[in-house]
Amino acid sequence: MSSQFGSRPTPKPGQVCHRSLAYGELMLYMGESKQIRVRLAIPSDIPYIAEIGCEAFSGLRPLECGMRWVEACFAAHPRMEYWVAEMGTESTAAGYILWLEKGGFRKDAVLELEQIAVRKAMRGTGIGRELVVQSLQGVKSRLQARGSELSVIEITTGSEQRAVGFYRRTLGANPVATIPSLFRGDELVLLARPRLDQGKQV
Ligand SMILES: CC(C)(COP(=O)(O)OP(=O)(O)OC[C@H]1O[C@@H](n2cnc3c(N)ncnc32)[C@H](O)[C@@H]1OP(=O)(O)O)[C@@H](O)C(=O)NCCC(=O)NCCS
Repeated sequence: MSSQFGSRPTPKPGQVCHRSLAYGELMLYMGESKQIRVRLAIPSDIPYIAEIGCEAFSGLRPLECGMRWVEACFAAHPRMEYWVAEMGTESTAAGYILWLEKGGFRKDAVLELEQIAVRKAMRGTGIGRELVVQSLQGVKSRLQARGSELSVIEITTGSEQRAVGFYRRTLGANPVATIPSLFRGDELVLLARPRLDQGKQV
């Protein structure tokens, strides 16, 4: 039976079916009708990233401010790097992740997972997990290419937010401190240390 994979065997669901790190692109096969494709963001993604961000975070609104913020972060590449996820045959982003490198382009690199959001209607379908896991593979390859290694991932999130469970599950991150009254309340600081956590996702 012919498939979209031509003469190659059809991959098993959950298996990476295409990898082109030169273009910062990975595809995860999710069954014939459902593919999550994670790739480096390009300028035409900016309006979609702003739209998804404004839907998820009140601090980014209104949309014009959100657009300016995303444009500014985008312009800070390679210190900041957006990756987007596309679902199935859709060519507009279903979600995004923003990585930020801290304290210099160090040999032992310290990254912050600055922001992640998935369109509301598409949450709970595995897009968030794939954004974290697949973009991190790309980020690690980039670090390796310049002779660096990922040392620590920092994440801050509202202490009342249920996303703590998401970061624990996808990165093995654990809360280490609380910053009182930062944005709309207290913020939790979480850390993941990939090298000490070889058995986990990162
Ligand atoms: C947080 C967010 C990015 C997760 O994306 P998602 O696509 O819904 O998550 P997934 O479907 O990939 O879930 C991945 C895993 O995390 C778990 N998870 C997802 N959201 C969770 C939550 N709020 N609390 C605990 N676990 C959660 C899932 O159960 C799943 O675990 P499993 O694979 O072991 O079953 C998404 O819900 C979102 O955009 N929220 C609004 C913005 C936000 O809060 N961003 C983070 C704060 S900075």
